[in-house]
Amino acid sequence: MVLVTGGAGYIGSHTCIELAQAGYDFVVYDNLCNSSQEALKRVEKITGKKISFIHGDIRDKEALQKVFDTYKIDSVIHFAGLKAVGESVENPLEYYDNNVYGTIALCEVMQKNNCKKIIFSSSATVYGNPKTTPIKENFPLSATNPYGRSKLFIEEILRDIFVSDNKYKIILLRYFNPVGAHKSGLIGEDPNGIPNNLMPFIAQVAVGKRKHLNVFGNDYNTVDGTGVRDYIHVVDLAKGHVQALKKIDALNDVLTVNLGTGKGYSVLEMAQAFQKVSGKKIAYKIASRRLGDIAKCYADPSYAKEVLDWKTVHTIDEMCEDIWRWQSMNPDGYNI
Ligand code: NAD
Ligand code: WQD
Repeated sequence: MVLVTGGAGYIGSHTCIELAQAGYDFVVYDNLCNSSQEALKRVEKITGKKISFIHGDIRDKEALQKVFDTYKIDSVIHFAGLKAVGESVENPLEYYDNNVYGTIALCEVMQKNNCKKIIFSSSATVYGNPKTTPIKENFPLSATNPYGRSKLFIEEILRDIFVSDNKYKIILLRYFNPVGAHKSGLIGEDPNGIPNNLMPFIAQVAVGKRKHLNVFGNDYNTVDGTGVRDYIHVVDLAKGHVQALKKIDALNDVLTVNLGTGKGYSVLEMAQAFQKVSGKKIAYKIASRRLGDIAKCYADPSYAKEVLDWKTVHTIDEMCEDIWRWQSMNPDGYNI
């Protein structure tokens, strides 16, 4: 049985579909601080399977122990965490408490219950401002904000756990920029308030919730001066977790893998792709650079192909189509 922390969230809910369809038994543990149980009801609708859900916080070791008492957990996919970069700068302690302490509490309960397999949601943010692209897993690591640092610390903590006991099976998945939604249009990304990320913002411009997109800088050294990122369809990303789970038993060291497409697209290219697919004009204004942003970030995904036998299949047009379907079917997200 797999424990999926943060399984009601954006990437977690899409991963639940793939796990269910691949025949895995799992239980979702989430405090719903940034998600809705409605997402899991929709996962049930899509898969035709009942999803076991426990409402709880990863920092609550007693509640976690109850989950281990109730279910025979042999591995954990650990999505639970806070992810807003700006918020982490304003409130670093909350981020260290939730992400770093939360992971320590989870690992303590795992250890007590002799559960030694964990797949962790890391991020391309751990590469800081890379000197060159595409980015390989052995590039130097750094962080420019508390969110990124929380990911770096957790990676180090998990590596130390392996050093202390090499029976652990640990996979650190470094996601690039997850976007898109499930083909059904029933689940997708549902940000609170004004979206920080590009694609949810563009989608809200398309449905008329926001007047225009602010393009954060057009003077970077890129194809058109706007920032370049590796946007990865969330369903491809979700499937990467199933592959990781398939490969985890054979590991004899901590495995660190980029999950990206290997292709970078600029802000204007993404806005244009969305405009084409949705038929809605994406009005934009050039604004100043956003603090902490980098020019270019995209993966070398070849190691993922080699070790996980996984690569992305969805194009940016599909990413845009699926966001558009989700956004137009659910203009208010899960707040129905
Ligand atoms: P999300 O906010 O949609 O999902 C995270 C889930 O964790 C939410 O359902 C939230 O309620 C839950 N959660 C948070 N703190 C918790 C706690 N203390 N106890 C129990 N549940 C808790 O975010 P997401 O985009 O699905 O991201 C999932 C993971 O992937 C996160 O760890 C995030 O940092 C990481 N990640 C995300 C991105 C991205 O751009 N979306 C990129 C790289 C890495
Ligand atoms: C993409 C591009 C912006 C919004 C963040 C986190 C990272 C990871 C993924 C979790 C950039 C530009 C954006 C807007 C814009 N999360 N932009 N106008 O910054 O690459 O990564 O999410 O781990 O840690 O930092 O993603 O979607 O915010 O930005 O012009 O309104 O779009 O400048 O070039 P980012 P993003």
